[in-house]
Amino acid sequence: MCGIIACTSTQEVRPLLLNGLRHLEYRGYDSAGLAVLTTSGHLEVHKKIGRVDSLAAHLPSSPPPAHLGISHTRWATHGEPSDSNAHPHLDQSGLLALVHNGTIENHADLKSQLLAAGHHFLSETDTEVLAHLVGQHYDASSASGPDRLTDSLRLALASVKGTFALAVIHRDLPDIIVGTRRGSPLVLGLGRNQHLLASDAAALLPHTRKVIFLNDLDITTISPDNFSIASLGPHTASWHISDLDLAPDAASRGHFPHFMLKEIHEQPLAISRSLHRRLDHDNASAHLDQLGLSPASLHHIDRVRIIGCGSALYAGMTGARMIESTAFLPADTEIAGEFRSLNRPLGNHSLVITVSQSGETADSLAALREARRKGALTLALTNHPSSSLAREADATLELLAGPEIGVAATKSFVSQLSAFALLALALGRLRHLPHHSGLELIHALEQLPSQIDSILAQSHSIAAIAARFASSHGMLFLGRGLLFPIALEGALKMKEISYIHAAGFAASELKHGVIALIDPHTPSVCLCPDDSLLSKNIGTIHEIKARRGPVIAITSNPNPEIDSLADAVIRIPATLDLLQPILHTIPLQLLAYHTALALGRDIDKPRNLAKSVTVD
Ligand code: F6R
Repeated sequence: MCGIIACTSTQEVRPLLLNGLRHLEYRGYDSAGLAVLTTSGHLEVHKKIGRVDSLAAHLPSSPPPAHLGISHTRWATHGEPSDSNAHPHLDQSGLLALVHNGTIENHADLKSQLLAAGHHFLSETDTEVLAHLVGQHYDASSASGPDRLTDSLRLALASVKGTFALAVIHRDLPDIIVGTRRGSPLVLGLGRNQHLLASDAAALLPHTRKVIFLNDLDITTISPDNFSIASLGPHTASWHISDLDLAPDAASRGHFPHFMLKEIHEQPLAISRSLHRRLDHDNASAHLDQLGLSPASLHHIDRVRIIGCGSALYAGMTGARMIESTAFLPADTEIAGEFRSLNRPLGNHSLVITVSQSGETADSLAALREARRKGALTLALTNHPSSSLAREADATLELLAGPEIGVAATKSFVSQLSAFALLALALGRLRHLPHHSGLELIHALEQLPSQIDSILAQSHSIAAIAARFASSHGMLFLGRGLLFPIALEGALKMKEISYIHAAGFAASELKHGVIALIDPHTPSVCLCPDDSLLSKNIGTIHEIKARRGPVIAITSNPNPEIDSLADAVIRIPATLDLLQPILHTIPLQLLAYHTALALGRDIDKPRNLAKSVTVD
């Protein structure tokens, strides 16, 4: 999704902006652009469809120095990917340039008013409308200097509906960038002799670790040696400087060919981190005191509703099953976008858990706000403790997965599952879960990192299976109980990066229609843990084989019947039923990865996808 990096400095800024855009590439984009103000006072704008490298190749080879600039990677919402629709956009005077993340809902009305006032537009974007609107107020303003720009933004944004994070420059203000946000993230970076704005803290890492996560309606004015923060709203702005706690190589692939593979291999570490100091051996429970929710408030909960999108939703579906089976608490899941549209009733003692890797997904944030409005206790499960979601929820359980750059969620998903296992343990021990069962779960959790390592060691044999089936025109993923959501996740991973049509189903649904899809060219991936449902899962494999459908079985203990029926078997270590989802996820990720590799797909930047879906 769109990304912003802007900088005002005592040095040349073009290389910094291009490098910053490369750090934002993983978010997904279709075009890139920058606007710089040269030291001789010329506003230079370059925009190019395609990769940041195309933009870099398009820049003049020996340009005049420029110490101030804004830049952007665009993921098309209003208007197709093209040079003219790429940001930055200029106002009517051509002197004000603006980059924007988010969507302007009333852009059509605003555009009609501007057209009536004689404005001309060069793109189909909502952002150009915003640039013209700000420019109109700038021209009419009586203020001078930076105040003129902040005042014009304040006035323009008062009539804007929608979400934005934006950075604006004007030719007459050689040192100044003004940035503001509502509903989309924006981070201020405090560098040496320079200040920066970015939509993603990772893009600031090469320049500073001192950052300020701006709040909604904050408006900041930055120059190389100064910054100020005010509010567009009725309150005074409050902010604090945070230290970025990211490893310098957090955004590098190391020796792995893709971020996705690196992140799949980081999962044992991610799980260890998420368990560290959270397991309470003495009480056979989990330490969730850092949540800031008292045992009394957790004890009063009589229903859990879990909300998320995509993989986070599937983690939530698994989490709901974990909580119900361990804590005997009714728990269900809702697609975040549906929750916000459906006006769902919430009881007085509901806990609403919003799951989101980024903590910035527009639908998830809106759902959280809706739950808070209805008076529910809210908990954010996120990888980003400074995200909007974490800041707005009553409590946060941090995933501690480390930065996830690959567009397809991998280690964040597995960390979400382990966080839910901890939550189920803690809620279970607050209710009826016996001490010995709690301890058994703790011991099983502690074995996960080495068990995942042993599955990762099978990467080559999984690659061979992937190569055998990569030319399939479709794939089915089937699981029961706790593994039904994992079948959905397996199918999502496969379609996202291989572009093979894949669908996940509850195995019990096979006979109710899905079976029509079975043929010799459509493999079924069957999740068959060695549990009380094993004989049913073997029955499912029989039904598929009877129709000459190929079967890839994922199972734990050797089973002669599965071995003789299935076309390929992936064996994983045995664990408790509750943790089967975590171990079954790993081979599904590897299967998707190696299938995409065999098909020559752009694994870290799958077509049309964005890492963080911050627009509606
Ligand atoms: C799938 C994937 C998406 C995200 C979804 C929610 O691989 O990455 O389905 O899970 O867009 O994103 P977050 O978790 O950031 O809210």
